[in-house]
Amino acid sequence: MPLARSLSVTSLSGLEEWDEEFDLEDAVLFEIAWEVANKVGGIYTVIQTKARLTAEEWGENYFLVGPYVESNVRTQVELIEPTDPVLKRTIDKMNSSGCKVYFGRWLIEGSPYVILIDVAFTAWSLDRWKSELWELCDIGVPWFDREANDAVLFGFLTAWLLGEYAAQSEEPPHIVAQFHEWLAGLGLVLCRHRQLPVATIFTTHATLLGRYLCAGNVDFYNNLAQFNVDKEAGDRQIYHRYCLERAAAHCAHVFTTVSQITAIEAEFLLKRKPDIVTPNGLNVKKFSAMHEFQNLHAQSKNRIQEFIRGHFYGHLDFNLDKCLFLFIAGRYEFSNKGADIFLEALARLNYLLRVNQSDVTVIAFFIMPARTNNFNVETLKGQAVRKQLWDTAQTVKERFGKKLYESLLVGQLPDVSKMLDKEDFTIMKRAIFATQRQCQPPVCTHNMLEDSSDPILNCVRRIGLFNSSADRVKIIFHPEFLSSTSPLLPMDYEEFVRGCHLGVFPSYYEPWGYTPAECTVMGIPSISTNLSGFGCFMEEHIADPSAYGIYILDRRFRGVDESCNQLTSFLFQFCKQSRRQRIIQRNRTERLSDLLDWRYLGRYYISARHMALAKAFPDTYVYVPHEPNSTSGFRYPRPASVPPSPALSRHSSPHHSEAEDNDEDERYDEDLEAEKDRVNIQMRGGVDRDGIHVF
Ligand code: UDP
Ligand code: G6P
Ligand code: GLC
Repeated sequence: MPLARSLSVTSLSGLEEWDEEFDLEDAVLFEIAWEVANKVGGIYTVIQTKARLTAEEWGENYFLVGPYVESNVRTQVELIEPTDPVLKRTIDKMNSSGCKVYFGRWLIEGSPYVILIDVAFTAWSLDRWKSELWELCDIGVPWFDREANDAVLFGFLTAWLLGEYAAQSEEPPHIVAQFHEWLAGLGLVLCRHRQLPVATIFTTHATLLGRYLCAGNVDFYNNLAQFNVDKEAGDRQIYHRYCLERAAAHCAHVFTTVSQITAIEAEFLLKRKPDIVTPNGLNVKKFSAMHEFQNLHAQSKNRIQEFIRGHFYGHLDFNLDKCLFLFIAGRYEFSNKGADIFLEALARLNYLLRVNQSDVTVIAFFIMPARTNNFNVETLKGQAVRKQLWDTAQTVKERFGKKLYESLLVGQLPDVSKMLDKEDFTIMKRAIFATQRQCQPPVCTHNMLEDSSDPILNCVRRIGLFNSSADRVKIIFHPEFLSSTSPLLPMDYEEFVRGCHLGVFPSYYEPWGYTPAECTVMGIPSISTNLSGFGCFMEEHIADPSAYGIYILDRRFRGVDESCNQLTSFLFQFCKQSRRQRIIQRNRTERLSDLLDWRYLGRYYISARHMALAKAFPDTYVYVPHEPNSTSGFRYPRPASVPPSPALSRHSSPHHSEAEDNDEDERYDEDLEAEKDRVNIQMRGGVDRDGIHVF
């Protein structure tokens, strides 16, 4: 085991420096979550993106602990023998006592070690462990709650693992264990009850009650102090889950959560104020070429356009070049994620675009997994028809080329009227006939199992946005996470986001919200809200977020209808931007990436671990709190800018192409960067000097 380890977090483009001199001695870190190598939602993103930085700090002493799920292991994990002899003895001992514990490397950046526990294999212990839980703390878990049963098994098994690790160590070890979310929380409670030598951290990424209360029509934020938490949990049949969550929060040496807004919520609903807020970061990739991300946008957009050509075959009566791609994505929580007000705002936007005779078409994607039995025929047919048209065009092109070649070989200019013969026309006519279609392009790409009660589909039925020709706003509901192996839209999520123009995440309940953060680091503008951890964080750190393409909707102090109007106005103004303005705005958005990089935000996790070690092992570790204790202090100024001038950004010749125009736009924005410290922006009635709308 390496001995003294410490990490120095250095300055990132002006962000506050932070040098941590903390000797970790022989400490070992276990990070425990149900989403280790197991994608469900944002917690997976936290663990996966943070792994590299944590592995750099802890080296061989860092272990992620999660559930064993065969399909995940097959694609993401390389199973190996444990290298650490203590861990090897621990796992061998557990496996010889009726458990199935695997060890491997998770094949992501940082290649961290993972310990994966097959909870189903130990299900024979469930009843015994449940009665132990009841005797220990009067928490009764009903038999029908499968997730809670898994939480019991996972909790007892992780506590067993940590206890065994301590027992197998020759010297008393210094273990720090971070448990994420209620599903992993019981392990922490048991560690404390068994008085294991473990410094514990509980990190909550939401509160169970908060999520449930918000999903059911409650004025949540104005009544936080009033809720009778036990009754509310009981009414929703989640009392046992709530007890597990609250017990973990109270037993932890250090309690953390992902945003200030969730910290307040936790204080009221879990009755403990978090010790540290640990905002979620990302693993930011910087391209060596400055505008590489703009090129990637153009490439990915082309691929989305191809999909649209197929999806709207027979109804391609709009200009694809003037088409804007908007999207919402995440777990399917209709109102918590704001899909309800997004749809309503789209209906209003449709009206505005129509009455203003706009030539812009908006295509709004909803990427939210629901229960389906696969793609529907009409959607697959669309892509098949597109492919057929493409193949036909290629065939005719080849025949045309051959005739042209032959004519040139004999020294003649071709007779253009004879270049296409009857057969060519027949092929083409047949292909065109195949594009005839009796129905509108489908709203949903899959066959839904609960079609008649699905909230998105019901809302679409109510507002009547059925992808008709007259509509300027079209809707595509893709009820499955994206994948590069899909026969329909073969793109992974990152590629898809890059190809879109705007991410729309008008959440009502969102402890952090990775989706807008991911947009930001890819240089794609987004709409979030002042009820999301991300939105509040950006508001705190950026003087004028909308100028950077970070639109923050007010859902805290406005009613639903007013918020919806504000959202409509954001969308409508966005539709009015020129390509040039969008390019400039994307450059600005991307500039904020450093703020969201784990290299900057990882320090809060580091603090939490040090605090826990010092609390659990006061004779070995001393924690000196860092000032400031939150990410306060740094603020991005308003973007500096100069008014577009012909001398700066235009050729003298009027004949330059659009491509040149775009390249110039990008260079122009670089010029703006150089001016940054010299020129002060002046706001002019809601439109800044680049003509980008600020609200
Ligand atoms: N996501 C994904 N594939 C998709 C759509 C979304 O992997 O097709 C991911 C996205 O990258 C993000 C996560 O789902 O990291 C959603 O996290 P967020 O924090 O926004 O919300 P949560 O679902 O955890 O509430
Ligand atoms: C990027 C590319 C440009 C392209 C532009 C399209 O900036 O580098 O070549 O023209 O994207 O932007 P738009 O917002 O219209 O998709
Ligand atoms: C939860 C929250 C989400 C957050 C994620 C990661 O799933 O709903 O807002 O981004 O955890 O912390």
